[in-house]
Amino acid sequence: MIKADYPLEKLKELQTPFYYYDLDLLRSTLDELILQSSKSNFEVHYALKANVNASVIEVIKNAGLGADCVSGGEVQAAIDAGIESSKIVFAGVGKADWEINLALDSDIFCFNVESIPELEVIDELAGKKGKTAHVALRINPNVSAHTHHYITTGLSENKFGINMSELDKVTGLILTLTNVKLIGIHFHIGSQITDMTSFQGLCIRVNEIQEYFEARGIVLDHINVGGGLGINYEHPNHCSIPDFEAYFKVFRQHLILKPNQTLHFEIGRAIVAQCGSLISKVLYVKHGTSKTFVILDAGFTELIRPALYQAYHRIENLSSALPEEEYDVVGPICESSDTFVKNYRMNATRRGDIVALRSAGAYGEIMASQYNLRKLPKAFTSDELK
Ligand code: LLP
Repeated sequence: MIKADYPLEKLKELQTPFYYYDLDLLRSTLDELILQSSKSNFEVHYALKANVNASVIEVIKNAGLGADCVSGGEVQAAIDAGIESSKIVFAGVGKADWEINLALDSDIFCFNVESIPELEVIDELAGKKGKTAHVALRINPNVSAHTHHYITTGLSENKFGINMSELDKVTGLILTLTNVKLIGIHFHIGSQITDMTSFQGLCIRVNEIQEYFEARGIVLDHINVGGGLGINYEHPNHCSIPDFEAYFKVFRQHLILKPNQTLHFEIGRAIVAQCGSLISKVLYVKHGTSKTFVILDAGFTELIRPALYQAYHRIENLSSALPEEEYDVVGPICESSDTFVKNYRMNATRRGDIVALRSAGAYGEIMASQYNLRKLPKAFTSDELK
């Protein structure tokens, strides 16, 4: 099995399980992202929900990206990390008053508004502060993302966004509100999207919706097409940097911007997924009647994606070069769903071996829990272990 380069001797000295971030890969990923997005002056906001590890955010901030936040905690984290508030967007179907107030006080770039009642509350709270809130309407474009149903969001039966059938009502209302200013429209069709035709479908729908606003004399400063670009979980060693060129090309070719409009993106997974690994130790190798179980000291408390979305993460045994054998790789949590992968071939494994669960930089550490009263995982970076 091909394996990535890890500082194994250093990893062995640390208490497992923990996250390990290859910051050099993160930097190269950001270089490529910026190279490709700057060809068209696109503005990228990093979706903090994917990972808010301080070292990771620091590298992303230094690259000059904005932030896409979905909670007051994330808005605060973006500001604390030194991301300019004029580059922060704030989405989410359930923004609490304190979160709206924090964003107003911070003078963020834009609220991505997901419903009429939310719009009314933002107007009211902005009015109390004598401020004008800049808002974009999150419109549900009814475009299928061909991804797992838990992470598809652009279809009409989702809780997210404003349906197109409500547009007349919302635009009518906005004109009557004195403390909000409509500056854009926002979309997000789902996550882990690898089929570029889904984004093409989004572009076509955005063009139609633009005509709707133009016909009503409403000028929009920006279009925000959300995030969702997928990564290659099967081959993290061959495809460590996502194909940003192909991704941005879809928008360049199919989305028609009006004069002076800017196009914004909210990319999470594609920036951080491949730079992160969950490092774990093999506690036991247990021989069943027909199966052999590799029992790790990491479970769904550290990486929930396999249990929650049936997601696949490649697992590499960093300690073994023995011929491959077949295993079910499981965690120690008292639930059957605490299984990372079944019938999986990897190098023959012994107690004490160190394994890396790959492509875990996005929605890994941040989704960890303390179930079974376990400790939240620590994290180390390649810079620290050099
Ligand atoms: N913008 C909005 C409005 C979103 O809801 C999301 C992700 C993003 C941007 C960033 O999407 P990305 O570029 O990372 O695909 N926990 C799941 C993924 C949930 C995604 C939620 N929204 C997972 O582990 O696959």
